[in-house]
Amino acid sequence: MKVLLFFGLVAVALADVTRYEGDKVFRLKPVLDEHVTLIKDLAKNIEVDFWSPEGAELVTIDMDVDIHVPAQYLNIVFTILDQNDMEHDVLIEDVQVAVDGQADGGPTPRAHSYTKYNNWNDIQSWIASISSSNPNLISKQVIGNTYEGRPMTLLKLGKKSSSSKPAIFMDCGIHAREWISPAFCQWFVKEALSTYGSDAQMTSLLNQMDVYVLPVFNIDGYDYTHKGRWLNSRMWRKTRSRKSGSSCIGADPNRNFNAGWCTLGASSNPCSDTFCGYSPESEIEVKNVANFIRRNKAIIKAYITIHSYSQLLLFPYSYTYDLAQHHSELMQVAQGASAALRSLYGTRYTSGPGATTIYPAAGGSDDWAYDLGVKYSYTFELRDTGRYGFLLPESQIKPTCEETMLAVKYIAAYVRKNI
Ligand code: ARG
Ligand code: ZN
Repeated sequence: MKVLLFFGLVAVALADVTRYEGDKVFRLKPVLDEHVTLIKDLAKNIEVDFWSPEGAELVTIDMDVDIHVPAQYLNIVFTILDQNDMEHDVLIEDVQVAVDGQADGGPTPRAHSYTKYNNWNDIQSWIASISSSNPNLISKQVIGNTYEGRPMTLLKLGKKSSSSKPAIFMDCGIHAREWISPAFCQWFVKEALSTYGSDAQMTSLLNQMDVYVLPVFNIDGYDYTHKGRWLNSRMWRKTRSRKSGSSCIGADPNRNFNAGWCTLGASSNPCSDTFCGYSPESEIEVKNVANFIRRNKAIIKAYITIHSYSQLLLFPYSYTYDLAQHHSELMQVAQGASAALRSLYGTRYTSGPGATTIYPAAGGSDDWAYDLGVKYSYTFELRDTGRYGFLLPESQIKPTCEETMLAVKYIAAYVRKNI
């Protein structure tokens, strides 16, 4: 018994020190077709974790390609890059150092905080307490359970009213590793409650409209990325669903919506990070959200979804290069929102349709909502542009959320005045 326990501890200790130690994140700059082919081959032969774009199939010429390379493959990757004259920078010298450095608020007790990356347990208790704090402005409802059985609780913000009000739907945490995203939804709820009555814009918004906030869409995945002390799970992106016959877990929720499903920029390989799933809405989390929006489509006037990283404000379409019917208005609102965001700390965002602004990719929630009739449909890609990527330090939560509030409030005010 003692011996077993001893070996158990050694195994845990070993796993703990071998997580991402020595791994690097590269930014590659493919300027020749051969470079693109090389990157795709590399992805086939060694285990590379694509940060941006999120899969080898999305790589095209003249784009920045950020990849996380495990330490054991560094020699071969350096050799290949040099032999083929591919320009590259090292964005992150040691991924484990960046993972550990993400909690830079010091070794304070891990209770819920708006300036920390809270785990699911803390977010769940926060949802319970905040939703009972002010019954005149906030309520909650469960829209279904995740694959692993966690309740997907939707918060509804808005002044109580006897008649039904037009609404905005916002979700965070579609992708598990994009931790700044759920942090923003929590920040938004806090700000809405604390500035109602003093901030004119927030007051009119919540008087005239309801804002539905889903703090974490992909809860199973998010929870898994917090188990990283013993697992290499911090960089997980997908859901955690299983299917007999495949040993690979999960699908990309933002490729699983029924909008040109799996036609481009997605993978039909269950092991890929951009796996579109076995059918549209095969992921229960996607189905739950889609059902809610379908049921309430008469009142939902805007759909906002929060991702990271790249500092982009995207709108439809991503599944086609065709321009959306309301392209110029969507662009104008996006540019106004980006200007508002930039006014605070000078952070620059690029706006445009997904297909041309990042890459064509079908099955996304923004395109699906738009085609359902939700005209103002936006995807945010928050900070940064790759210095830390998904490992944005906690010290940047506050400024990121503050500036993003300005953009979201800009869109909300526009929608409120134009319905
Ligand atoms: N980075 C996001 C993703 O890959 C961008 C989403 C843009 N919208 C879309 N429908 N592809 O999921
Ligand atoms: Zn994302």
